[in-house]
Amino acid sequence: MARLTAIREILEDRIPVGAQEVGGWIKTHRQSKRVSFIELSDGSSVGNLQLVVDPAMPSYQEVAAKLSTGASIRASGELVLSPAKGQKYEFQVKELQLVGEADPEQFPLQKKSHSLEFLREVLHLRPRTATMGAVLRVRAEAAFAIHRFFRDRGFYCLHTPIISTSDCEGAGQMFHVTSLDINNPPRAEGKVDFTQDFFKEPASLTVSGQLEGEICAMGVSRVYTFGPTFRAENSNTTRHLAEFWMVEPEMAFYELEDNVALAQEFVQAVIRDLLSSCRGELEFLAAQEWSQPGHLENLQSVAESAFARMDYSEAISILERSGRTFEFPVKWGIDLQSEHERFLTDEHVKGPVSVVNYPKDIKAFYMRLNEDGRTVRAMDVLVPRLGEIIGGSQREERYDVLLQKIRDTGLDESAYWWYLELRKFGTVPHSGFGLGFERLLMYVTGMQNIRDVIPFPRFPGFAKF
Ligand code: 4AD
Ligand code: MG
Repeated sequence: MARLTAIREILEDRIPVGAQEVGGWIKTHRQSKRVSFIELSDGSSVGNLQLVVDPAMPSYQEVAAKLSTGASIRASGELVLSPAKGQKYEFQVKELQLVGEADPEQFPLQKKSHSLEFLREVLHLRPRTATMGAVLRVRAEAAFAIHRFFRDRGFYCLHTPIISTSDCEGAGQMFHVTSLDINNPPRAEGKVDFTQDFFKEPASLTVSGQLEGEICAMGVSRVYTFGPTFRAENSNTTRHLAEFWMVEPEMAFYELEDNVALAQEFVQAVIRDLLSSCRGELEFLAAQEWSQPGHLENLQSVAESAFARMDYSEAISILERSGRTFEFPVKWGIDLQSEHERFLTDEHVKGPVSVVNYPKDIKAFYMRLNEDGRTVRAMDVLVPRLGEIIGGSQREERYDVLLQKIRDTGLDESAYWWYLELRKFGTVPHSGFGLGFERLLMYVTGMQNIRDVIPFPRFPGFAKF
């Protein structure tokens, strides 16, 4: 069977005119006595291919009545420069094959625009839409751009475990992994007896690959993970998923400043890459009603200008002086809420900002304690509209200080023996961060709901498909 020509390749002038074969799904079919037109999509590009058919053609006549929106076809014929306005190429069909029908009485995606809410109910058909097609292509290119960024800088791609027995963030938002009979688990002293479970201890889906990333950075200097992470937090928001993908670089001999610089360089490089590799997709998405005016110009300038940076304490005083009444009152020591982050990015800075040196009590145990004894070398990158897209820090590399922090936090120090040993044998200052892949995609595509930038979102009450 001949290889089908991708419509993208045709529209990007990468295919010479002449004999070709294409296949895909019908967007529209217009019949008339002299000539029929089929607009065909194979999901490879924003634009569709215009097929021109002679209605007298036998292979067309047999199936013409069934060539409705959503039906799949293959067509062989001649790619020519289009004499008509509106498209550069058209495809003159010589032979047409109906592959799969889509009964117009039943197929839900007729040619009209559908709300993003409705499309979330038909995830199995959603990739057929122009919007989801564009998002899926941007997502794929973004993943590639991320790998390229790190590879070009001497980082090694690291596969960290998905099943884990440590809670990196210490937030207790873990999904359990067990092979016990949950209706009748073995018990000892009134509790579930995990010594009889598969791993002989409680295990969970990972919330972050960071701790394992640190282990490997202490051997090969610079690594990054890019994998799924899981959080059983009951956050039903437009920015949270229960399963999301995170990019986590970890670097030996990097201090907070190096980390801040890498995070900015990283976000900018990926945006620049996508502005060129996915230009058509981003223009298409920016033209949708939900997108903000000037979105692409904005991205361009974000890719080119340095991010603002400020200390947490400075952020607090900006918020205090703002004259705003926030739902969550502002005072030194609070965790920044979405409304605070958005004031800083959308109104104060009007762009991305790296906030550093947060109070130690609101951040994870592994962050390096500052000389003041009350803040840690944390770094969050906040962007307009979304707030936090990156969270990271310089790590505590001093054995005694780390041990004290583990004890103060109430964590079981015996469970972190290996993490402590990294500080006993050849410890070095090191840093890293985690970028929420879907948050970055929301930022770049302009999509307003995180459930629309992942093909199969998982959130409280929903894990279908
Ligand atoms: O700030 P977080 O929790 O940091 C960590 O997990 C660190 N261990 C990362 C590191 O230093 N290696 O998460 C990092 C990022 C957030 O900034 C956010 O973009 C994203 O992950 N994120 C989520 N994205 C979607 N849904 C959720 N429920 C998310 N929780 C965090
Ligand atoms: Mg965070």
